[in-house]
Amino acid sequence: MDKARKLFIAGNWKMNKTVAEALDLVKSLKRDLADVLDVDIAVCPPFTALHPVGQLLDGTVVKLGGQDMYWDKFGAFTGEVNAAMLKDVLCTYVILGHSERRQFFGETNETVNKKTKAALAARLKPIVCVGEMLAERESNRTEAVVTDQVLNSLAGLKPEELLEVTVAYEPVWAIGTGKTATAQQAQEVHALIRRLLAQLSDAKTAARIRIQYGGSVKASNARELMGQPDVDGALVGGASLQARDFVEMIQNVRN
Ligand code: PGA
Repeated sequence: MDKARKLFIAGNWKMNKTVAEALDLVKSLKRDLADVLDVDIAVCPPFTALHPVGQLLDGTVVKLGGQDMYWDKFGAFTGEVNAAMLKDVLCTYVILGHSERRQFFGETNETVNKKTKAALAARLKPIVCVGEMLAERESNRTEAVVTDQVLNSLAGLKPEELLEVTVAYEPVWAIGTGKTATAQQAQEVHALIRRLLAQLSDAKTAARIRIQYGGSVKASNARELMGQPDVDGALVGGASLQARDFVEMIQNVRN
């Protein structure tokens, strides 16, 4: 695929996989994706599996990411992990502001912004998620909601910091529902996000930042979605839980 930016596909395993199951899955990925140098690849297992998975993937093309983190450096924050801890277990990336965290765990643009800054300070690359709910799309508020999320979640970042960020556009109504946004719906919002990134930096910087689409991406629809000019990869939930599905999707978007 002739793309302006290198595609980036990340698997978000959410609350799935024991250590043994995680190792099984990444053994297959390590074997089947070893020669894929034209797409950036990451998996984001639950915290409990990060260390063993990181050991197995060290030095391979499949990079590791956390699913969340807290912004403080250490201290009395029961249940949290920080950026340095994710780096310590060999994470390259961290997902921040996923809609499930926004919906169920009180995540706001303000907390996402603090986490993004803390991740960057620790040299972790944030994957910052945005996306509207069904009711917001149906009341024509997609643009307003996504604009608010992008501008406030990424407020105050310098251009060189923004270059380390991936934005994931995930319409909430498409997550885990089997309902994918059409390629055109995705492209419209991705183009909006790129304009907002230019507003936060400049057009040249914005042209280099990757914007992933997420929401029921699978092997059969990935190529059409990523064929859109501003869709630079995918954040994949369900279809990243089986090696065969994830590998097939990655192979399908290669040239
Ligand atoms: P899904 O999840 O691929 O299962 O829809 C995507 C996500 O929530 O990142």
